[in-house]
Amino acid sequence: MLKLNLFISLLIFGSLIAVNDAARGSRRGKMTEAPSTTPKVESSEENSSEEETFKILVTHPEVPQEALDLMSRGCKLIMCESLPPNRTEILQKAKGVHGMFWGSHIPLDKEVLDVAGPQLKSISTMSAGIDYVDVEELKKRKIPLGHTPIVLSDAVADLAMGLMLSAARRFHEGRTKIDSSTWENYHIEWMWGQDVRDSTVGFFGFGSIGQAIAKRLKGFDIERVLYTTRRPIDKKLEKQFNAQKVEFHELLGQSDFLFIAAPLTPETEGIFNSTAFPKMKKTAVLINIARGPIVNQDDLYTALKTNQIFSAGIDVMNPEPLPANDKLLTLPNIVITPHIGSATKRTRTDMATIAAHNVLRGLVGEPMLSPAY
Ligand SMILES: *[C@@H]1O[C@H](CO)[C@@H](O)[C@H](O)[C@H]1NC(C)=O
Ligand SMILES: *[C@@H]1O[C@H](CO)[C@@H](O)[C@H](O)[C@H]1NC(C)=O
Ligand SMILES: *[C@@H]1O[C@H](CO)[C@@H](O)[C@H](O)[C@H]1NC(C)=O
Repeated sequence: MLKLNLFISLLIFGSLIAVNDAARGSRRGKMTEAPSTTPKVESSEENSSEEETFKILVTHPEVPQEALDLMSRGCKLIMCESLPPNRTEILQKAKGVHGMFWGSHIPLDKEVLDVAGPQLKSISTMSAGIDYVDVEELKKRKIPLGHTPIVLSDAVADLAMGLMLSAARRFHEGRTKIDSSTWENYHIEWMWGQDVRDSTVGFFGFGSIGQAIAKRLKGFDIERVLYTTRRPIDKKLEKQFNAQKVEFHELLGQSDFLFIAAPLTPETEGIFNSTAFPKMKKTAVLINIARGPIVNQDDLYTALKTNQIFSAGIDVMNPEPLPANDKLLTLPNIVITPHIGSATKRTRTDMATIAAHNVLRGLVGEPMLSPAY
């Protein structure tokens, strides 16, 4: 056991530098390269018995190879094969594993932990949000949980900018005008949208993703940034973004563009509802790249339909996948993407690699790269 611990520590140390960069959101770290100083498990002359090899359950068959390579050097991987990921299969394969690479958004709850057994000692998700994890239950059992925030902030912020501009300038509606041959640009007021310049931009949640969006907005000559968070952010950051913490009702009342960039919690669930929308400007554009249930979707429909707000751009909704006959899709003034915020090769690979390091570190009792608690 000791020897194995040492081996894994070496393995982790060898590739930590690049991963630390990415975990911190540094642009220098390129994550797709395999660690170079890694010892090879094949060179081991001893047979390791079952007890000496950590078993890691990988709950998704398409986890990027870089992450699988990292974990399989020192551990035995138990792969789930179903697509979409299937809870029954996960439960069948969870028994006796030491680590879990939780590659889907299937609820990670008491039942899963019970089935796995008391030897389970390390879990990481491959996501920033962990609303599908029973964190309290993990804490109770002292099982460390990792997740992968920060590394996806740039990709999500890029998408948020796209949604903001396409909702403000009516990309979706414009396309339908072409499709229906109702292109009427002889009207001077045709298809007028909202300016970004000189606008007040609000952030519901101003963590790593919100700040990455604010950074991009610096090129758009906005007037100021307002935000709400559970905790005030660093004064230096406030200065850097010309940002001011306000109450929720002020955020609603003053924002020309309002980004939802907060985690889903009991406090945030449904907070954008029929009480909130009438407080917003009629010209406001709402962007949600966080979690669907933060918005009451029926109330959003009504707000858009009755022009309580100008438009919305959303990457997340409730439920996902959104049924093709959902009434939201009938509206001209909403732009919808299918939860693709982090869906780029580099970002997903980085997320997987960090999650793999989280699991490995948890197994040897070292602090995770990005612990969730
Ligand atoms: C390794 O295990 C195999 C099969 O269990 C056995 O035949 C072999 O002798 C073992 N080798 C060593 C070095 O223990
Ligand atoms: C899930 O996996 C189990 C066991 O592997 C299988 O019996 C079941 O049909 C699968 N369910 C779905 C919906 O694919
Ligand atoms: C909207 O959400 C807020 C905050 O959760 C709540 O106080 C309010 O009662 C809700 N409004 C409606 C109409 O449900």
